[in-house]
Amino acid sequence: MKRTEIKTLLSSTDYGKAVNLKGWVRTKRGSKNVAFIALNDGSTIKNVQVVVDLNPEMEGVLENVHTGAALSIDGVIIESPGSGQQVEVQAKEIDVLGPADPEEYPLQPKKHSLEFLREKAHLRFRTNTFGAITRIRHAMIFAVHKYFNDNGFYNIHTPIITASDAEGAGEMFQVTTLNLNNIPKGDDGEIDFNDDFFGKATNLTVSGQLEAELAALALSKVYTFGPTFRAENSNTSRHLAEFWMIEPEMAFYDIHDDMDLAEDMLKYLIQYALDNCMDDLEFLSKRLLDEEKNKKAEDRSMELIEKLKFVLDQKFERITYTEAIDILRNSKPNKKKRFQFVIEGWGADLQSEHERYLVEKHFKKPVILTDYPREIKAFYMKQNDDGKTVRALDVLFPQIGEIIGGSQREDDYDKLYARIKEMDIPEESMWWYLETRKFGSVTHAGFGLGFERLMLFMTGMGNIRDVIPFPRSPQNCEF
Ligand code: 4AD
Ligand code: MG
Repeated sequence: MKRTEIKTLLSSTDYGKAVNLKGWVRTKRGSKNVAFIALNDGSTIKNVQVVVDLNPEMEGVLENVHTGAALSIDGVIIESPGSGQQVEVQAKEIDVLGPADPEEYPLQPKKHSLEFLREKAHLRFRTNTFGAITRIRHAMIFAVHKYFNDNGFYNIHTPIITASDAEGAGEMFQVTTLNLNNIPKGDDGEIDFNDDFFGKATNLTVSGQLEAELAALALSKVYTFGPTFRAENSNTSRHLAEFWMIEPEMAFYDIHDDMDLAEDMLKYLIQYALDNCMDDLEFLSKRLLDEEKNKKAEDRSMELIEKLKFVLDQKFERITYTEAIDILRNSKPNKKKRFQFVIEGWGADLQSEHERYLVEKHFKKPVILTDYPREIKAFYMKQNDDGKTVRALDVLFPQIGEIIGGSQREDDYDKLYARIKEMDIPEESMWWYLETRKFGSVTHAGFGLGFERLMLFMTGMGNIRDVIPFPRSPQNCEF
């Protein structure tokens, strides 16, 4: 018999119809004459209840049916007497495809801590929480591509191995085939990369932006959605060493057009999740309420679905960095030195505590900050006429802080060249980027949305390591 997926089964009312189910046991319970198996196959967060009338043969089979075992069940759809679901399956035959020894299987039908599950990342897909996150992650990936496709953008694959440092922050993983036990060195004592695979020093990309710009200056609207790598040693709940970034890049867009796109895209993605992922969102909402029930009322986050709708309804606040510094300097936590990093004055880099203050306490809605000091931003950002600031934009979200970073790009050859020199960026790694400002240069802009930061927001999870299947962070590369 052809397998019916549980998601399809649960929406059918073909009572009496024969079906085959395949999936993994979540729980088994029973009484003298009957046993109940909750089966899940990942197609939905919901389990199907399988009713097993006991006879000596079935009892023999059920001895191998434990949490985690894989089963194939032939049975008949029946109307469910219980509330909450309309159908159950009356089992006729159960085949144990893959047993799971209950003495050894690490996941028990009880709540496990997220820390414990991180160590069991090979099995955590089988929990409700990670099933829900995985399905929402998929829906968001799909929605990103749909959004751009429907709006006339072209997807481009930007390289993963590069010889340039797009962000200029120097937090790169090196890529080499040199023998690390016998590194060739020149007379000056420096490593001789001539013998390396590419004949030069290379690294994993920190951003696809620079190459996306090249494509935008021909195709007008492009985006890249790829893995990016940062060797920053920040062991926080918002940083990964390997994360995915969505980077649109648009010719003929200035910073205002860029902000409009960022806001529109984020709202589209939220609406898409509300329209397509409600079962999983409802589960995660309950999980969050449960997790926070011991917190003081003022420390609790907004209910998940309410929060998503709330952001959808707000026009994002747009203010300059300079205005934000004034607000922060005069804020209570700054005056009472309750910020870990007290804001002394203009020029300070903003930490997530400041970003979250602006969003959660001051404006009570998402905020887009623009026109940051040039010293704390990357070389490629369009310089303002004041000589002090650049046309940067950061989108700040509740619970997350910075979710998007972007800017209008410097399109003036002389200004860009001067900035590259000023920042000691090797010109030979940037000649191709500079050339686009020589030939047909136009106003253009783009941004990067951290996909896992978006996932934190969509799922209400507190740690970025729980919204990517296999997180990479300092001292952690298992699986
Ligand atoms: O602000 P960032 O560094 O900007 C860029 O890389 C630009 N080249 C983007 C562009 O304009 N095309 O990074 C963009 C976003 C951040 O706002 C954040 O959401 C996310 O990427 N991000 C990280 N996410 C997880 N772990 C990290 N270590 C991250 N670093 C940045
Ligand atoms: Mg940034």
